[in-house]
Amino acid sequence: MIAIGSDHGGFSLKKELTAYLEKKGIEYKDFGTHSDASCDYPDVAIPVAEAVAAGEYRFGILICGTGIGMSIAANKVKGIRAALCHDVYSAKMTRLHNDANVLCCGARVIGLGLFLEIVEAFLSTGFEGGRHSVRTGKISAREAE
Ligand code: RB5
Repeated sequence: MIAIGSDHGGFSLKKELTAYLEKKGIEYKDFGTHSDASCDYPDVAIPVAEAVAAGEYRFGILICGTGIGMSIAANKVKGIRAALCHDVYSAKMTRLHNDANVLCCGARVIGLGLFLEIVEAFLSTGFEGGRHSVRTGKISAREAE
């Protein structure tokens, strides 16, 4: 089960994402926004990030105009490793090496085809662990201070 959300800048792409997830049989909860009326990305990013950090959802996917605002906001939540990815390689590597649990994308930066390839790579790649666990552990330790 994954948590998804967007602001108005990502609303259209989120509709494409829900169609993709339904086609793939991937369960999701849509945290909004539910129209293209202007809204504030932290109002969506924080609830999605908190739900993922609480273990209610395995992953989060957040979309805004650039993906930047969503990633900044989501990364303020303890336990969240949100990755802004606009290429498939980064989406794969952030799962392998960073154990990212939230994917952020910019609807005004990439097209639908690339976006869905990024989503596919992110959702289907596991964390390598090992030395990378030591590194993510250092991030968690800093959060705990
Ligand atoms: C909204 O215009 C835009 O600022 C927002 O979607 C996002 O790109 C912020 O980072």
